[in-house]
Amino acid sequence: MTARSFRFPDGFHWGAATSAYQIEGSPLADGAGASIWQRFAHTPGMMVNGDTGDVACDHYRRYKDDVQLMKSLGLHGYRFSINWARVLPEGTGRINRKGLDFYSRLVDELLENGIVPNATLFHWDLPAALDDRGGWLNRDSADWFAEYAAVMFKALDDRVPRWATLNEPWVVTDGGYLHGALAPGHRNKFEAPIAAHNLMRASGAGIQAYRAHGRHEIGVVFNFEPKYPYSDRAEDAAATRRAHAYMNQQFADPALLGSYPPELKEIFGEAWPEFPADDFALTKQAVDFVGINYYTRSVVRHDPDAYPLKAVPVRQAGRTHTETGWEVFEQGLTDTLTWFRQRYGDIPLYITENGSAFYDPPVAEDDAIDDPLRCSYLRKHLRALHRAIEAGVNVKGYYAWSLLDNLEWSLGFSKRFGLCHVDFATQQRTPKASAKFYTQVIESNGAVLDD
Ligand code: BGC
Repeated sequence: MTARSFRFPDGFHWGAATSAYQIEGSPLADGAGASIWQRFAHTPGMMVNGDTGDVACDHYRRYKDDVQLMKSLGLHGYRFSINWARVLPEGTGRINRKGLDFYSRLVDELLENGIVPNATLFHWDLPAALDDRGGWLNRDSADWFAEYAAVMFKALDDRVPRWATLNEPWVVTDGGYLHGALAPGHRNKFEAPIAAHNLMRASGAGIQAYRAHGRHEIGVVFNFEPKYPYSDRAEDAAATRRAHAYMNQQFADPALLGSYPPELKEIFGEAWPEFPADDFALTKQAVDFVGINYYTRSVVRHDPDAYPLKAVPVRQAGRTHTETGWEVFEQGLTDTLTWFRQRYGDIPLYITENGSAFYDPPVAEDDAIDDPLRCSYLRKHLRALHRAIEAGVNVKGYYAWSLLDNLEWSLGFSKRFGLCHVDFATQQRTPKASAKFYTQVIESNGAVLDD
């Protein structure tokens, strides 16, 4: 067998990602308003072990040290998100200068250390004051978001060259409005499509605001999970088609094609509203890039009792699964990228998240943390990414999820996704073997992945 080269294209951008509520801590400091995650985490029974983001990785106070950590890993870029309620405590109107200043200082610190900032405006932490006004169920949410986005662009676009409107709107609606496991914790089939639609109207309005106030790049971040049929029976094929439309097309289609796939009406039935045709002129805006978050695939079987999809994922025996129960399936990344290009065209792409939660052994005396499963996950997925690039998909960069072990939403601190271990009692950060491996990937631009 001839050796393969996994060297990435010149100028390939290597980074790591985090999000505000998962790492910052100090959620109410310096005049910040509460977010829905602050509320949710403080509602008894919602979080594993009663964990909250009150301290998390204490990044709000330790951001300078964290930037040094990023520098020591050799990162080219850092993807973070902004807590909307720090900047606009009521969600609209009054600006909280101290909150805005935090992000301004973070950006300066990154630039001074040669790290390119990539800011996501909304990574799930809606201001609680806006939830009180109906949150994403209120059509005004598109205007609220555009107002907030314009504040951020005016303050930071001179220094932030890459922006995203939303992170994973699918998770917001599936977890937050349909199944209730994530904030704001609703379980309502009628609400989910409305929240989804307003999120995409908001994203469109945010992109319009960028064209007025920004002069670099803006895009939106989707999570994709390719769906494969459990058998060749027609009903499994139909279930797979529904699951795919629901998860992979519900948001990308209105944003990039200006329409919804017909399967959504089939899935939601009477709960699927007729949206005003004009809305699609707002949802469909030209983007400079799309961010793709990829973790796993699912194999889908028809199940008439499964709500509301009539489709269920089937666990694959004999395969490696992460601590979140997700199958390690790197081919799905290649398949997703080639599918995306075929359906939506040659849009520049970034892998904005990819990573794995595995059990990590305690920090050894010599400060080493051996995480072979996470290293293997990373190696396999980077090779799969390289195959997609070779096949002609225009991927410009990769952000590992995550820089740090952090608050895994309602799973609290029980799942560790970090390249760097965090001791939550001392806030000590320790790069794991996977972080060291990632540094080699960056330094060699992928050559360390060669066979
Ligand atoms: C989210 C992250 C999350 C990660 C692992 C993505 O859905 O954007 O915030 O921690 O996956 O679950």
